[in-house]
Amino acid sequence: MKTSFRSNYCANYDENDKGTIATLCGWAYSIRDHGGIIFIDLRDKTGIIQIVSDPNNSDEFHKITEEVKSEYVIKISGKIRLRTEETINKTIPTGKIEVLLDEIEILNSSTPIPFQIDEEIDSDENVRLKYRYLDLRRPNMSKNFILKSKTMLLVRKFLDERSFVDIETPYLSKSTPEGARDYLVPSRINKNHFFALPQSPQILKQILMTSGFDRYYQIVRCFRDEDLRSDRQPEFTQIDMEMSFVNQDDVIDVVEDLIVEIFKEMKDIVIAKPFKRITYEESMDKYGNDRPDIRFDLELNNIADLFKTTKFKVFKDVIDKKGIIKCLKVSDESLSRKDIDSLTQFAQENGAKGLAWIKVSENEMQSPILKFFSDAEISDIKERLELKPGDIVFFGAGEEEIVNKYMSAVRIKLSKDLKLINDNEFKFVWITNFPLFIKDGNALTSCHHPFTMPEEQKINADPLKTKSYAYDIVLNGTEIGGGSIRIHHRSLQEEVFDVLKIEKKEYLENFGFLLDALESGTPPHGGLAIGLDRLMMFLTNSESIRDVIAFPKTQKASCLLTSAPSKVHSEKQLKELGINLIDDDDD
Ligand code: AMO
Ligand code: AMP
Repeated sequence: MKTSFRSNYCANYDENDKGTIATLCGWAYSIRDHGGIIFIDLRDKTGIIQIVSDPNNSDEFHKITEEVKSEYVIKISGKIRLRTEETINKTIPTGKIEVLLDEIEILNSSTPIPFQIDEEIDSDENVRLKYRYLDLRRPNMSKNFILKSKTMLLVRKFLDERSFVDIETPYLSKSTPEGARDYLVPSRINKNHFFALPQSPQILKQILMTSGFDRYYQIVRCFRDEDLRSDRQPEFTQIDMEMSFVNQDDVIDVVEDLIVEIFKEMKDIVIAKPFKRITYEESMDKYGNDRPDIRFDLELNNIADLFKTTKFKVFKDVIDKKGIIKCLKVSDESLSRKDIDSLTQFAQENGAKGLAWIKVSENEMQSPILKFFSDAEISDIKERLELKPGDIVFFGAGEEEIVNKYMSAVRIKLSKDLKLINDNEFKFVWITNFPLFIKDGNALTSCHHPFTMPEEQKINADPLKTKSYAYDIVLNGTEIGGGSIRIHHRSLQEEVFDVLKIEKKEYLENFGFLLDALESGTPPHGGLAIGLDRLMMFLTNSESIRDVIAFPKTQKASCLLTSAPSKVHSEKQLKELGINLIDDDDD
């Protein structure tokens, strides 16, 4: 890329350019003084090229070369020449050539940097975040953002070709119930009133369907004040879509095509369509959660029915309290007693009271609980689980939610310990038929959000039994997207608010505009949002979502580069907003 400063990027030159005069700009990556001859590796965003400063150059010129230090910004020009056979560097694309320095100019200096701009070096993440501008200079970081940019471009092109219209929705907005806390922004002009930064553009994209746009998309920032994890940030980006006159299959079809295209173009990986689909119920049953990693077969087995008359107190108590007993069978003789103990401890850390087990060998079964079982129970277990020598079975018994939580964690841990996962595989699965509501203490809450269409036109007398047209897309155990067909009749929407025990006054205040739109000719519609950052973690093989967000927040939701959030500059700002701080200590 030619500019007034340079003739091209460093790595755009190769042996065909022998004899060409190149003018290049970039950072001094490494400087090596070989007694007279000075080598500088010059780096720009495309890569590295070797510059050679010959001792025959003038003293003055040599002085400048010697002044250059690591990460100085320099401009050089010289002739491209071939390296001799023995000096070829096979590890870089420009390894067959070098530039014989003719002119050099220092454009800017650099203080010594706190870590090396070297992709091999693993420095402390807090230091990387504080000096993010240096961290992003690293080739293995900058490549993530270049790929993210290309992915977004592909998404726009793909959706544009399918009649989607990119429409912006406001960030200064009203709360939408996606299940997290809102980030609030006080209004100066409307004292005591607050905007909420959108957790998603959910309601507004539905309203765009009322307006007749038919297909909407936006690559949009969403804000959620929730506990952060390696795949969660307080602000993150969604590829957000909505379509009119569609059912679940139509939405799923567009999303599958988009994902297939992204993986083909960005990773040269062919993903087969259609993706596997399983219901929420089946997912909870077999995997203990609604985001199963299906790269390996290990499945949970519900065997409470075998112990209806058991004398084993632990299981009996659980059955009496209508709990569940789930087991996992692995066939691996290498699991030692120590491994079993550490797995038990792991289960306990995840909420288990214990993790009973049975180990099958050629002539016997070993287990601390076998003595409590009747012969019939033992033979039932053998038959149901098709036990053979070498098998180990782990049992979790207790309250359904708790057992599912720790047994699904045990399943993942075993898959890692026993190396059942192929890291190069990408296994997508749709989870469908989510319940419309789930329990939240004694109350009910929406499983997705309150605008989700129930499978029946009437909510069941027992609302917990009502299923919905909601679907999540899961990749290797991570939820990368979710959506649903929406309610498009006011009466049904009000019924949902009623079941959620939201007072009429409250829902009219918060969602009255949506209800009005629903009775003003809203078409049947549905959509989905993909978590772009999570998708990018897979496309870039990143362990942390922070590696695909240029300026991410820490676990404590702060930015170490800018020190945001920070105190306001002056009391006046707070006064104008009508805000009185109640706890203004200086920590
Ligand atoms: P949902 O809440 O499931 O759906 O969000 C969609 C996807 O966004 C990603 N995601 C996140 N990524 C990073 N950090 C976070 N804190 C975070 N929270 C969510 C996930 C998730 O699957 N309005 C609905 C979509 C719809 O119904 O059309 C919504 O926001 O990958
Ligand atoms: P205890 O009688 O508490 O010593 O438990 C006997 C065995 O059952 C031990 O191996 C425990 O790990 C196991 N165990 C205890 N509680 C549970 C539970 N809720 N689910 C599965 N196994 C359990």
